[in-house]
Amino acid sequence: MAGGAVVNTSGGKDYPGRLTIFVFFTCVVAATGGLIFGYDIGISGGVTSMNPFLKKFFPEVYNKKQMKGSANQYCKYDNQLLQTFTSSLYLAALVSSFFAATVTRVVGRKWSMFTGGLTFLIGAALNGAAENIAMLIVGRILLGVGVGFANQSVPVYLSEMAPARLRGMLNIGFQLMITIGILAAALINYGTNKIKAGYGWRISLALAAVPAGIITLGSLFLPDTPNSLIERGHPEAARRMLNRIRGSDVDISEEYADLVVASEESKLVQHPWRNILQRKYRPQLTMAIMIPFFQQLTGINVIMFYAPVLFETLGFKGDASLMSAVITGLVNVFATLVSVFTVDRLGRRKLFLQGGSQMLVSQLVVGTLIAVKFGTSGVGEMPKGYAAAVVLFICLYVAGFAWSWGPLGWLVPSEIFPLEIRPAGQSINVSVNMLFTFVIAQAFLTMLCHMKFGLFYFFAGWVVIMTVFIALFLPETKNVPIEEMVLVWKGHWFWRRYIGDADVHVGANNGKGAAIA
Ligand code: BGC
Repeated sequence: MAGGAVVNTSGGKDYPGRLTIFVFFTCVVAATGGLIFGYDIGISGGVTSMNPFLKKFFPEVYNKKQMKGSANQYCKYDNQLLQTFTSSLYLAALVSSFFAATVTRVVGRKWSMFTGGLTFLIGAALNGAAENIAMLIVGRILLGVGVGFANQSVPVYLSEMAPARLRGMLNIGFQLMITIGILAAALINYGTNKIKAGYGWRISLALAAVPAGIITLGSLFLPDTPNSLIERGHPEAARRMLNRIRGSDVDISEEYADLVVASEESKLVQHPWRNILQRKYRPQLTMAIMIPFFQQLTGINVIMFYAPVLFETLGFKGDASLMSAVITGLVNVFATLVSVFTVDRLGRRKLFLQGGSQMLVSQLVVGTLIAVKFGTSGVGEMPKGYAAAVVLFICLYVAGFAWSWGPLGWLVPSEIFPLEIRPAGQSINVSVNMLFTFVIAQAFLTMLCHMKFGLFYFFAGWVVIMTVFIALFLPETKNVPIEEMVLVWKGHWFWRRYIGDADVHVGANNGKGAAIA
């Protein structure tokens, strides 16, 4: 079967250890790093559809929006500066994730989280107090730095803390927090939009300080991961931590020995950035680039950033459009829970393939429904029942994303890099994600204006390509210990040619028994 390399986990390694309360709580705290990212994704779209905000900062857009009737529905929000407001954050996150790689490697994962939370906090204050566009944009850049640091460190932290068998579940805590952040933002926008005096947008932006406060304080209480402790030259502390997180009565000697081997190998690597270009890391490098690229090309952020704007375009009035964002936000959270409970049993591939197919069908239906009503002129009205059908299919699309590309876009890259290239690999993942988040945020309103309903077909085309890519090139990684992942590539029909026998050193027993089907 193409792409069907599956580590036969019954014959493979399975370190002893259970989900201790300690690991559970540290993972919950670390995952709150996802809240800041999610809050931000959800808040901008709502704020940019609020009239007092537009009047103050983007009067041109406000005036265009007031011109009812003949105005082309597809184009009423098309404005470069407005898009820059949304997207500047992602450029900042892109750049900062490279700095975060060094912090994560040299001083540990938790200090990256702390730095991220703190910078985000300052950005939130600046945004809430903004009097001009400059304050808005500088604030957003600081928020972006915060997101870059958090997204670089949190997924790696979770994957390193988790026992292999439950890694998917614990790692998806990050995505769950992202979706909770998005939903909280949608609810807050719904409430603050009702404030008659017109300062609701300030509250929306300033409340970003709450999730930032949570991760900033929370990170101070987090322990370092054993992997990071060993990497930084504290082998005894690492052993104690491993014991603590796997359970004091558990024999951790084998897992510990494997971590030491992984760390010794990683010490031979002087230049993680140059190293990741070596032939033997080609599969990981390919995934670090393609997975985040494809995740954004699903078009999800068209819905996440611009749901209120999109729904208004479809003829919903102000309040109703913010309400629709709450509905898609709820679907997003609940559908993510599906993946939390299935990812370690069904595996990553099944979720990717099912989710992709569901997104594809929904996008084609949404595009067609919009085409029928607005055609290419963009002039028309949607009756209530019709608009409800559009919302329904958008929800099916969001659900498909929420149990596939959403969580797996962060999980899979965080679990496939060997220690020596992990921070570098994760930075590539974050920065490619941010780059394409930026591109979509920046281009969507213009694309909608020019490609019209065809935009949905455009993303549907990409979903076809990425689903085929997964089917052919992504091996199953469920239940495979993170430092043994090389065996998975070695057993894959395509990637095996990049991995020499000498490249396979997996821990104390050299992977004995980690049979590959
Ligand atoms: C993506 C975000 C997206 C979110 C939606 C995340 O995994 O990286 O870009 O907005 O999921 O829930």
